Amino acid sequence: MKNIRVKSPATIANLGCGFDILGLALSEPFDVIGMELLDTRKIEILEITGCDDLSLDPAKNVVGVVLQAMLNRIDDNVGFRVKIEKGIYPGSGIGSSAASAAGATYAANALLENRFSTNELIVFAMEGERLASGTAHADNVAPALMGGITLVRSYDPLDIISIAIPRELFCVVLHPAIEVKTSDARMVLSDKIPLKTAVKQWGNVGGLIAGFYKEDYALIGRSLTDYIVEPVRSILIPRFYELKKVAVDNGALGAGISGSGPSIFALCKGEVSAMRVCNALEMHMRIVGLRGKTYVSAINREGVSVYQEERVMYEVL
Ligand code: HSE
Repeated sequence: MKNIRVKSPATIANLGCGFDILGLALSEPFDVIGMELLDTRKIEILEITGCDDLSLDPAKNVVGVVLQAMLNRIDDNVGFRVKIEKGIYPGSGIGSSAASAAGATYAANALLENRFSTNELIVFAMEGERLASGTAHADNVAPALMGGITLVRSYDPLDIISIAIPRELFCVVLHPAIEVKTSDARMVLSDKIPLKTAVKQWGNVGGLIAGFYKEDYALIGRSLTDYIVEPVRSILIPRFYELKKVAVDNGALGAGISGSGPSIFALCKGEVSAMRVCNALEMHMRIVGLRGKTYVSAINREGVSVYQEERVMYEVL
């Protein structure tokens, strides 16, 4: 095989209480990565559509960086020519850089006859996150590559666990028309946590995982609360608490900041409930004059996959 085109999904990292360790894959939006195998050791980014702000220089683009990390591990006389279609706008909080990084590792691995394991692909894709945010976190790239809900049980050594997906779980995402850089959103965080706060937080992490396994939607809802990161980062998102209240008042199990923001996510039991939450958020945005894009999505169980269609939905905020 010399050519491949894959789609790589948006992801919600943190899921409220699980900063840097929890994430899930969405059905939309997604990036599309087209790749051709070359017979010289070079990486070429031919074109990026859907976004004007990203560099074609492989050393400054997450796709180039992860492909270089892969090339560094092999001696073959091969390289990659890439076309990136950005369905997820950068600085969204729904794993834009992770989708490109994960998609690139998957596509390259397919062209290399799948010589790397998924765990190795996650390590390569994390190098893209290091470029994008300054930290090689895995809570977006793991669900993007593996699909479903994932837990980073440990970073060193890397230990990623797939978590059970409750059958009726749906996500609503509101992506406001502002950009928050993950690197900035990480800088506002304190590296010290009072023990009492930590106790509440790890209670919720355990509760959330138990809720997923037991399909106990009420437990999922009451475990989503983030006592550590949300209180600090919410100041970067206009009307965050107001929008969160609209979601919960309209039946969401709970809501929070998606990744490093500005996107806001809500988890819901069933598609009907998710549509109701989404409609209420859209109506509220219209009333207060907020621009943005909303999505209702089931959990994407597959993660990155081969994509045959022409169509790419670019985000228009
Ligand atoms: N866990 C990361 C953060 C996710 O919150 O900074 C970034 O999307």
